[in-house]
Amino acid sequence: MHPSVGLDFGTTNSALAVADRERRVTLERFGRSGADSLRSILYFHPDRRGPRGVPEPVVGPEAIDRYLESDGDGRLLQSFKSHLASRSFQATGVFGRNFTLEALIAAFLKVLRARQPAARRVVVGRPVRFAHADTTVDDDFAVDRLRRALAEAGFDDVVFELEPIAAAWHYEARLTRDERVLIADFGGGTSDFCLLTVGPSFRGAGRAARGQSILGTEGVALAGDAFDAQIVLHAVAPALGKGSMVRSYLEKDPDKVLPVPPWIYGKLARWHTLSFLKSPETLRFIAETRAQSLEPDKLAALEHVIDADLGYRLYQAVERVKRTLSTADSAELALEDGPLKLKKRITRKQFEGWIGDELARIEGAVERLLASTGVAASAVDRVFMTGGSSLVPAVRRLFEKRFGVGKLAGGEELTSVAQGLALAGLD
Ligand SMILES: Nc1ncnc2c1ncn2[C@@H]1O[C@H](COP(=O)(O)OP(=O)(O)OP(=O)(O)O)[C@@H](O)[C@H]1O
Ligand SMILES: [Mg+2]
Repeated sequence: MHPSVGLDFGTTNSALAVADRERRVTLERFGRSGADSLRSILYFHPDRRGPRGVPEPVVGPEAIDRYLESDGDGRLLQSFKSHLASRSFQATGVFGRNFTLEALIAAFLKVLRARQPAARRVVVGRPVRFAHADTTVDDDFAVDRLRRALAEAGFDDVVFELEPIAAAWHYEARLTRDERVLIADFGGGTSDFCLLTVGPSFRGAGRAARGQSILGTEGVALAGDAFDAQIVLHAVAPALGKGSMVRSYLEKDPDKVLPVPPWIYGKLARWHTLSFLKSPETLRFIAETRAQSLEPDKLAALEHVIDADLGYRLYQAVERVKRTLSTADSAELALEDGPLKLKKRITRKQFEGWIGDELARIEGAVERLLASTGVAASAVDRVFMTGGSSLVPAVRRLFEKRFGVGKLAGGEELTSVAQGLALAGLD
């Protein structure tokens, strides 16, 4: 029997794990630091070309380093998994070449493929609900595209498994008795849930027995990226003109004033749409808006963020604030460059207020899962929380309140899914 390979292609971080027959799991290591996950990020430098002159990206931490060295030259893409279900994103131009979404994702996945060139069947994770998927038809569309991207990267024999179920197999590995467990996986793009029984009587019991132990699954297409977006909308966008007024463009109505169109800030706040602001039409629109603005300095700061490619630095500053707030009561958001001057202290309480809607939707998904499975919270033995965004205290608090502090378990936030996927391949 070959070792089993599990691939977690995450919105923010990806990981590749191998399980042997004794159910021992090892993780591939990446970069100088030997990290056990790889940032899902791509960077195209204008001069770096592969065969036939096709732009060739670098990935992971190297992508970030090269991009920051380059003074904002080139294209940096992240959170691209979030486009899979959206039909409006087919392709994007990179230095004169058209890249389909599948080709972009494949360029990233190839690096992972190269680590396990001999692996035949690979178990790959998928969220319960993809970002931007309103129906199961959208989910199927996303899975099809992901399958094509995987094939293009050389993963041509793929079995999909739900990400929270994979996290369950990982959690199960350390159990000495059976438990009814709620798995809650909070990533960058999606939050996924699964209620099931795991433990020694199910380990290696085969797919049929496994299937019966799963009571239900749920998902919502929001997670860490949506938390970042709220920080951008509340703490950054007002300094860039959000909510400020512009004179009407209509000559017959010269005295009428209107707010700056909010869609601009919606794009700015989502990391997977940020790089699209730099289109000539959008830039022209923002320049025209500045000309009519009652607070043109703020619009000038917005133009500077886009022109000078400050998007990634903004992302870093915002994400750092969010992470700091996981352990501290307040954090400073600071980013100064030309006309952009951001310096603000943000409290955890403010942040928790900003993400109130997201927290309510997460709560709603958990309630739906309990209702659809007919399992009372008191009948859940354990809640295993994983994924980077499970470290947000307000998220944990929802589960402490509903299930009791003593029932919460967690750990290996960025690698539990990949490890469980590798174990799933043994069944
Ligand atoms: N200490 C922390 N506090 C708050 N958020 C954090 C912390 N550490 C990481 N995150 C967030 O966790 C998210 C990444 O988590 P993870 O790697 O589990 O996601 P992913 O698997 O890539 O995404 P998905 O499963 O949605 O495809 C990011 O939004 C990141 O900002
Ligand atoms: Mg994940």
